Amino acid sequence: MKKPVIFAHRGASAYAPENTGAAFRKAVEMKADGIELDVHLTLDGHIVVIHDERVDRTSNGSGWVKDMRLSELKELDFGSWFGSEFRGETILTLEEVLDLLKGWDGILNVELKSGPIFYEGLEQKTLDVLKAFGMTERAIISSFNHYSLLTVKQIEPGIKTGILYMAGLVEPWDYARKVGADAIHPYFVNIQPPIVQGCKAHGILMNPFTVDKPEHIRALAMAGVDGIITNVPDTAIAVISSLQEQ
Ligand code: G3P
Ligand code: MG
Repeated sequence: MKKPVIFAHRGASAYAPENTGAAFRKAVEMKADGIELDVHLTLDGHIVVIHDERVDRTSNGSGWVKDMRLSELKELDFGSWFGSEFRGETILTLEEVLDLLKGWDGILNVELKSGPIFYEGLEQKTLDVLKAFGMTERAIISSFNHYSLLTVKQIEPGIKTGILYMAGLVEPWDYARKVGADAIHPYFVNIQPPIVQGCKAHGILMNPFTVDKPEHIRALAMAGVDGIITNVPDTAIAVISSLQEQ
């Protein structure tokens, strides 16, 4: 069995507040092969790492990321909602995350949250940052907005892209090819072994999300997926090693 790349979803987000330094450090500590994170643009054009369009769920503030300056966002606490021991975690820019990950040699999956809000220039800015940190070879850009991925490929044809989707698409490798993507990032429940085989036969990588239960991780790994996006990288790593020992 080929060992799938284990991506820590929003960092090791079962153990630390998602998309924060604590979650990314935990992912590295757990030896995740990859990290997935989500990006948006602030009012003053900084790329910030956060899942939602609004700060309400994961901070002590309220409002839209697009309406706030980085300095205002930096005043908020992004840790306490998860646990008092994480009090003081701040929002990070993509540059700050890459600084924190210096020396780590894993794969970074940057999800462009380009919808329902369309951030002007998010694709170009993200590529500029990845290039500045020498990360283009070790990155994969994904999005539910596949127009965004077309833009990414127009700017930087060599960077990998992955289409995110929820449905049980028929022959998704054909569609992936159509949008010039290298990978599919499907919601895992709709994945069956023939789809994994079809992707392999057509040279399209498959990294399903978000897979946390050991039995699901095991089934997907045995079907031969290339990567697994999970909130519990430690569990996924343990499941994969036990399969390799068998
Ligand atoms: O990239 C996989 C996954 O993160 C997609 O959905 O909503 O968790 O960002 P979401
Ligand atoms: Mg995401």
